[in-house]
Amino acid sequence: MTPMANAPIRVEDCLHTGPGTLAGQYLRRFWQPVFHGVDLAPGRTSPLRVFGQDYCLFRSEAGTAYLLDPRCPHRLTLLSAGWVEGEALRCFYHGWKFNGADGACLEQPPEEDSFCHKVQLRRYPVREYLGLIFAYLGEGEPPPFPLYPEFERFEGLLEIDSYLRECNYFQNLENALDMSHVGFVHGDNRAAFNGIGLGRRLAAEESAWGVTYSFTRADGARRVQQFGMPNIFYMNALPTDPDIGWQESLFWWVPVDDLRHIQFSLHRVPATGEARARIHARRTRRRTEMDQAHQDMAEEVLAGRLRIAEVDGSRCDMVRLQDDVAQLGQGRIADRSGERLGRGDVGVIAIRKLWTRELTALRDGRETLHWQRGPEIVPAVWGLEGGAGRAGGEGTSEQARADIEDVRPFLAIDYQLRALRGEARAR
Ligand code: FES
Ligand SMILES: [Fe+2]
Repeated sequence: MTPMANAPIRVEDCLHTGPGTLAGQYLRRFWQPVFHGVDLAPGRTSPLRVFGQDYCLFRSEAGTAYLLDPRCPHRLTLLSAGWVEGEALRCFYHGWKFNGADGACLEQPPEEDSFCHKVQLRRYPVREYLGLIFAYLGEGEPPPFPLYPEFERFEGLLEIDSYLRECNYFQNLENALDMSHVGFVHGDNRAAFNGIGLGRRLAAEESAWGVTYSFTRADGARRVQQFGMPNIFYMNALPTDPDIGWQESLFWWVPVDDLRHIQFSLHRVPATGEARARIHARRTRRRTEMDQAHQDMAEEVLAGRLRIAEVDGSRCDMVRLQDDVAQLGQGRIADRSGERLGRGDVGVIAIRKLWTRELTALRDGRETLHWQRGPEIVPAVWGLEGGAGRAGGEGTSEQARADIEDVRPFLAIDYQLRALRGEARAR
């Protein structure tokens, strides 16, 4: 799978992330979110598939999450079928027991002459942060863990609103730096009618973190979005609640395999008092009201059996459906060989340039860049009613701690878990 020496690295080399692939090796060099903390109860295990590879995830009764290789080294049954004992996991088949923290074999009940010291299960460093379980899946020591103080230290709600999309992750990543799709794909959203995305008014510049992508309106107002290498986005998402307006958001696109990915999504909602109560009530209702999966509706639309205009927006997440149709319409893994890019695609071009440059360095054994998000790397946007634009992290304070709130529709959780546990398809 690794491209041959001297052959130019192309965007096609960024798409495959399974074991042994170049892009997979690159992505594994960074801490990545792989699961939602609320989806793993104390004392429970779960199979996990990310980057086309299987793992075993478990949480001790005391609450610590651990990540191990998926199969028992004895006779290779799935460890996730076993049970949790303290900070260890007991295999279902013959009861070998493994320590979560270091993967050491602690017991081999059927062996009178135990050879535990010769058995070692691989374990992966794990850290829980902002409601997400992050893991380091690469070789060697993990890099420093990146923090996002803007998303933890403020008064209000930190909403978890992740989703599953059933296409290659790189299509979603490219779509983020493509503002010219907004007026068309999301033309029904009230915030979209600002002439966003005319090509000559778009700019994409390399930053210390990745790409600073901006659009300048005719009146001089700017929308600025920050892409962080290799798969992070910090931006103001389109409004979905009258009390919130633009939603300052942090996203990671994490492949389950090459044909589907999770967008781990966090929204920063600095609302307090009555506004917070109203938002909470609407979000809670929405979790059950959303009973049509956008993934299923997208298939109907792409098959020509349904038009988006016929979908009931009170039962299906329209923004996600719209992006599903655009991105899955490209193919589950888009064949980019027939593309005709224009000035409106500067963001897409910028991401591909960084990615192919870094993958070339990795393949050739040269040092890759250490991406850093400094204080200047913040998003900006104009006010919805023509007021002042918000800078990133406004209202951040040392004392305050946001409350993490899972706002994912229950149906969306079901789809995500089936994918992350490695099941073939949600239906
Ligand atoms: S397969 Fe796990 S103890 Fe035998
Ligand atoms: Fe979109």
